[in-house]
Amino acid sequence: MAVGIFDSGLGGLTVLNAAQARLPDVNFLYYGDNARAPYGVRDAEDVYQLTKAAVESMWDKGCDLVILACNTASAAALRRMQEGGLPKGKRVLGVFVPLIEALTERQWGDNSPPREVAVQHVALFATPATVASRAFQRELAFRAIGVDVEAQSCGGVVDAIEDGDLILAEALVRSHVDALKRKMPHPEAAILGCTHYPLMEQTFQEALGPDVQVFSQGNLVAESLADYLQRHPDMYGAGEGGYFTTGDPSRVSDRATQFLRREMTFQAA
Ligand code: DGL
Repeated sequence: MAVGIFDSGLGGLTVLNAAQARLPDVNFLYYGDNARAPYGVRDAEDVYQLTKAAVESMWDKGCDLVILACNTASAAALRRMQEGGLPKGKRVLGVFVPLIEALTERQWGDNSPPREVAVQHVALFATPATVASRAFQRELAFRAIGVDVEAQSCGGVVDAIEDGDLILAEALVRSHVDALKRKMPHPEAAILGCTHYPLMEQTFQEALGPDVQVFSQGNLVAESLADYLQRHPDMYGAGEGGYFTTGDPSRVSDRATQFLRREMTFQAA
């Protein structure tokens, strides 16, 4: 059995790590399209085609359920893949909804009309493609009213993380937080709307200050996955899982080991 976790590169490891801690008996198949990262500077059609090809290869490796642990792919490909019809017994889920449910303090599957919520000023940090898609704002509008979202497109951060240049990533995060604060001086909450960004969560929190509640997706997605699998015990898939990359396996293994602080061995996808 293996549940699939997909990202353009290393960011989905933040979701994998939380999912493995929450569901220690489940095998996971991780697929990072590192050779083609970053996705966040590509157009929606390109992201859709790349995501679809990767997910199909994960289905071929035995996964029935694939989590798009990539906001850029979730924004550009999830709805289109679902509406286009999935092969029998296959499912693909994204990472927006668990986060928005947490932000709006909703239980899973609460489909009641949108209502006022505690937070009113929310900073969204995401890739250029996710910001351009307005997918977060759309999902939020289904659940909450009166929330002012200021989006900051964080160019360069994913590239720096993929290159292992954390000094550059840190400098870029600080400058993107400054830019956001010029537009929204006092956000109550900040959403890390790219799965790479939790790798820099401490820098975001420091730059935003202690009064801002930072939401990241790892634990929220892991919890929602646990709930989903309990309700759909037929979705564990086949095969043993493993860690796959379209990039250089030894380079990706080194970076992943550095980020998760445990041995991670990738093989060619
Ligand atoms: N981790 C991806 C996301 O959540 C990064 C996208 C990219 O490759 O730019 O959006």
